[in-house]
Amino acid sequence: MLDFLKEYIEELVQEGLRKGFWLNYFRALPTLEAMHAYIKSSGIPYLGSGSSRDVYSISTGKVLKIAINVLDVHHQNTPEINNWAKYKNTGALARIYDWDEENNYWILMEAVRTFEDPDQMLEETGIPLGFLYDLLRLKRIYTSSKTMEQLKQNVLEDADILGEDVNVERVKRGFQGYETNPKGKQLIDHFNTLMDLGFDVDLVNNRHWGVSASGNIVAVDYALLDTE
Ligand SMILES: Nc1ncnc2c1ncn2[C@@H]1O[C@H](COP(=O)(O)OP(=O)(O)O)[C@@H](O)[C@H]1O
Ligand SMILES: [Mg+2]
Repeated sequence: MLDFLKEYIEELVQEGLRKGFWLNYFRALPTLEAMHAYIKSSGIPYLGSGSSRDVYSISTGKVLKIAINVLDVHHQNTPEINNWAKYKNTGALARIYDWDEENNYWILMEAVRTFEDPDQMLEETGIPLGFLYDLLRLKRIYTSSKTMEQLKQNVLEDADILGEDVNVERVKRGFQGYETNPKGKQLIDHFNTLMDLGFDVDLVNNRHWGVSASGNIVAVDYALLDTE
């Protein structure tokens, strides 16, 4: 009889848990597998995955990023958490609210509306995705140009000789977006800041940028530094 009651209560508890996502319950789960199983049973909306993390919406302003494999943890979550601590003052990074302090299996990050495709990014910011590649190239060619204005002057002067290396028409459109669209300016300023800090070319990806709830353009996948 007691066993029956115990089982019955356990079932009720499980049923109750399934209907929502309880961070404190989740936090105490012993393994990454148990965490994934709990997420699936809780039914929280799945937003997408990259190569190393699954991302779910857990409330209106927050997403849960969880490592797919234990091996991914040190490759992605750990550096991302460290980068947040080091570079949060740049304003270029989606905010991290909380994380798994024991194993770095998961991160609770500010929800950002990421750019689904390059066209959406172009429409909202005036910046063609390829302009980010062009900028990386140009910054390597004109190492002494410190400002976007100087860089633009260099490109305009050298348009004829750059022809094959850099897509000059795209670069002109990019500079126009930078100069006329405040979101385009913010995207490029943040991109430049992160590149100068040594972040990886992985940031040349529309899905790694988006608009935060407060309307700022921020990066959401900032795990990788070039040196790692
Ligand atoms: N903070 C966020 N808000 C909304 N969507 C996000 C957020 N972080 C990541 N995503 C979405 O989930 C995808 C996978 O996350 P990402 O950080 O790129 O993981 P990975 O390191 O595996 O590439 C992203 O490409 C993006 O579309
Ligand atoms: Mg990614």
